[in-house]
Amino acid sequence: MMQALMERIMQDGNILNDGVLKVDSFVTHQVDPDLMAAIGQRFAEVFKEYGITKVVTIESSGIVPAIYTAQALQVPMIFARKSKSLTMNEELLTASVYSFTKQVTSTVSISRKFLSKEDKVLIIDDFLANGQAAKGLVELCQQAEAKVLGIGILIEKSFQNGRQLLEEMQLKVVSLARISSLADGKIQFLEGDA
Ligand code: G4P
Ligand code: NA
Ligand code: NA
Repeated sequence: MMQALMERIMQDGNILNDGVLKVDSFVTHQVDPDLMAAIGQRFAEVFKEYGITKVVTIESSGIVPAIYTAQALQVPMIFARKSKSLTMNEELLTASVYSFTKQVTSTVSISRKFLSKEDKVLIIDDFLANGQAAKGLVELCQQAEAKVLGIGILIEKSFQNGRQLLEEMQLKVVSLARISSLADGKIQFLEGDA
């Protein structure tokens, strides 16, 4: 876990009534670059012995922590797109991602040429809720036969089942803040150093 992130969540996070944590003043809308740089350094430290060759995330709010992590590891960052770009005319890796929060399925994609079976991937995202976004990114990597060596998350909502889903796929999940509850207007973190 990362004390500075947990303190910032306590200070500036806001609970929306449906179990959603609003962090738009430092993560998802306005962004604190110093905090994000420190987060990138932390993930780079955790995964420095893994031989990571690519950092993969999904637009939009995964991009900032992913780019700082990629810079700290000195590897490229790839963000999966949720809509096809005008110039994406090459062969694509694609996966369907269902959002329980939004109740919509979207197609995410990465150009085939940016991932290969030589790649060792670190997936980064801002939130882990039900794990569907991360699972979609894992599927994109699997299509390219790239190895996923870890998943780095800023804020895990441990009362949802995302971590369980990913661990059942034998994936290593490292979350910098693990929230056990947002009930009764209180933000509570899991104990320990997991
Ligand atoms: P899942 O991928 O873990 O299954 O999550 P889910 O479908 O429930 O989440 C959909 C979107 O909502 C994701 O962003 C996710 O990062 C975000 N999200 C989930 N829980 C929270 C929360 O408590 N607070 C905030 N602020 N966001 C949450 P997205 O809409 O796909 O992308 P984007 O916002 O990065 O563009
Ligand atoms: Na996200
Ligand atoms: Na988001």
